[in-house]
Amino acid sequence: MEKFCSNIAIFLIVAFGNAIHATAGDPDILKDFLVLPSSDPSTITRQYFTFTGFRPLRHANLTGKTTALVTKATMKEFPALEGQGVSVSAIIYPPSGMNLPHVHPKTSELLIVLLGSLEVGFVDTTNKLFTQTLQAPDMFIVPKGLVHFQVNTKTDSPSIALGVFGSVNAGTVSLPRDPDIVKDFLIPTSLDPSNITSQFFTYTGFRELVNVNITGKTAAVVTKASMKEFPALEGQGVSVAALIYPPSGINPPHAHPRAAELLIVIQGVLEVGFVDSTNKLFTQTLQVPEMFIPKGLVHFQVNTRSDSPVYVLGMFGSANAGTVSLPSTLFASGISA
Ligand SMILES: *[C@@H]1O[C@H](CO)[C@@H](O)[C@H](O)[C@H]1NC(C)=O
Ligand SMILES: *[C@@H]1O[C@H](CO)[C@@H](O)[C@H](O)[C@H]1NC(C)=O
Ligand SMILES: *[C@@H]1O[C@H](CO)[C@@H](O)[C@H](O)[C@H]1NC(C)=O
Repeated sequence: MEKFCSNIAIFLIVAFGNAIHATAGDPDILKDFLVLPSSDPSTITRQYFTFTGFRPLRHANLTGKTTALVTKATMKEFPALEGQGVSVSAIIYPPSGMNLPHVHPKTSELLIVLLGSLEVGFVDTTNKLFTQTLQAPDMFIVPKGLVHFQVNTKTDSPSIALGVFGSVNAGTVSLPRDPDIVKDFLIPTSLDPSNITSQFFTYTGFRELVNVNITGKTAAVVTKASMKEFPALEGQGVSVAALIYPPSGINPPHAHPRAAELLIVIQGVLEVGFVDSTNKLFTQTLQVPEMFIPKGLVHFQVNTRSDSPVYVLGMFGSANAGTVSLPSTLFASGISA
């Protein structure tokens, strides 16, 4: 996990955080994916599903900056996201830099710290302030529509985070596929509402990734932060999984019935692919910090390197994406890596 975090430095230097305006939920689509009216669907290739716009972040110049640099990958920058209900921003905080208070009116934001530490906070509709200090790789859920901010309290080093949204365009459209809720956030019946603190909105389970032992493993080690592991996600329409691929390791073909998945490579090189409902196979080789959207269809990933692991985050536009694994018999006779 140390690598998982430290290698992010090489990679991301981003920020999002401009006010993003949203309205009501992303409508569900009846097709595998949507293409621009100007595009001929038969010309769609794997490039369409790949986003390389975070590459320039490796060279971000923070000198003299006091506010966070936000780089978005929404439907505008990455048209394949249309109808997929998920998007992401990369946020780079200069030393002492702030992402000023702003709101995404109808979209929650799952903030994952990749490098350094952050002071984060939001104000609920009763004017109660929840603040928290996060260190990589902790995450924090900002319920939809609430005013929030982040500050890098370190004066000598930058911080980097990813903001994951359960909408393709937190700015103008919104609402994930998950049903909308009429409260700021939902509290499990086992908890007393008056006992809810910032801790409830914070997930530190990814710290355990530092202990993951991939020696002798052939399949990817998947660590989820969905509604089950992180109850504050209920009703927020977003979740994340961390994937560690051992050398030559594979994540066998599977599907998430309730959400598209946006994959971002944090370290290493990953071969990814999915099959659309016409049985067309799209594959792509991804390097740090590229993204790929395999949608709700059957998809798989392979680490083709025999000497080094790969670290990846999978981001979903649902708090409970679900996973359906294909029978191993099908896999054995199926897609070759
Ligand atoms: C970074 O930005 C500062 C201030 O704008 C500028 O003086 C400096 O030349 C830039 N450095 C690079 C490597 O571009
Ligand atoms: C709420 O917090 C109080 C004081 O910390 C504790 O005694 C009580 O058991 C908690 N209630 C629930 C339902 O967790
Ligand atoms: C990792 O797993 C391998 C194989 O199971 C085992 O031999 C090794 O001792 C483990 N390493 C650690 C640090 O636990």
